[in-house]
This record gives sequence, structure tokens and C-alpha cells, in this order.
Amino acid sequence: MQPPQIFVERTLAIIKPDALGKAEEIEDIILRSGFSILQKRRVQLTPEQASDFYAEHFGKLFFPSLVAYMSSGPVITLVIARDKAISYWRELIGPTNALKARETHPDCLRAIYGTDDQRNGLHGSDSYSSAEREIRFFFPDSIVEPIPVGEAARD
Ligand code: TYD
Ligand code: MG
Repeated sequence: MQPPQIFVERTLAIIKPDALGKAEEIEDIILRSGFSILQKRRVQLTPEQASDFYAEHFGKLFFPSLVAYMSSGPVITLVIARDKAISYWRELIGPTNALKARETHPDCLRAIYGTDDQRNGLHGSDSYSSAEREIRFFFPDSIVEPIPVGEAARD
């Protein structure tokens, strides 16, 4: 008989500088939303590291201030896992602009913990390939391939 193929997806969450004071509260919400926290690091990004992380936005008008903001204080980076982790975490954090989010998605985490269109409190990977890259960025030793639980259970 085939073992069950349950894939536990991982994504990268970042508690950004403006939300750092609420980190414990946010981690509680993460756990209560059915995620496991697999890895966690508190880091102070240099402007160079923040630029690398957000390289896809290089050249945009907001890029310099985004880099300044992301390197303005410590952040907490978390590898979190559950089924459909990537889309579910994006849904929980809500739209990019925290001010607009307050109007349209008042319960989302950016509406609660963010400030404006830049200081939006939280990051979430937007696709499987971003999650893979972003997890490796902060946790270079981590295994990012999905773990088939059935396989693991047979070992
Ligand atoms: P983006 O990848 O578009 O949003 P998301 O974080 O929801 O994936 O942008 C990355 C970050 O850049 C965003 O979280 C905040 C900042 N940003 C601005 O400062 N101004 C902007 O107009 C946009 C679109 C983003
Ligand atoms: Mg993005």
C-alpha cells in the first residue's frame, strides 16, 4: 500500500523593525494559526544584505528607503511550516500597504502591526521559488525540499 503523501510546506516570515516589539505576540499568532516554527534568527541586516534580499525591487523609486528601513534595526526571521504555508501566511499578513489594509482587511496582521505602505510590519515569501531562495538567504544550511511524511514514517 502507498504511504500517505503529506507535504509540509515551508515559508519565510520576517518580523520587520517596526513590529519587533510585538514579536512574542506575533509568534503566538503564528503558532495558533497552525504553523510550526522550524527556525528563528534575530538579525541586524546591513544595507548591502537588505539590498540583496530585495534585489527584485532594485531600480524602483522606493528601493533606497526600503533598504534603509530594513536595515534600521533588528528583524526576526522565521521559517514556518504547515500545509499551504506560503499562500496561507500571505493571506494572514494581508496586502502590502498597511494603511489600505486597515480599510479592506482590518483583521490582517499588516493592518494591526504595520504603519504604512513601506513599514508594513511583516514579510512573507510570495511563491515556492521565493520561499526557497529566502529561506536559504537566512538559513543557508536548511533543507528546503518538501518532506514527504509517508517516506519519513517508513524509515
Ligand atoms: P512587494 O514585494 O511589492 O510587497 P510584499 O512585501 O507584499 O511582497 O514590496 C516589497 C516591500 O517593499 C514591501 O513589503 C514594502 C516595500 N514597498 C514600498 O516601500 N513601497 C511600495 O510602493 C511597494 C509596492 C513596496
Ligand atoms: Mg514581495
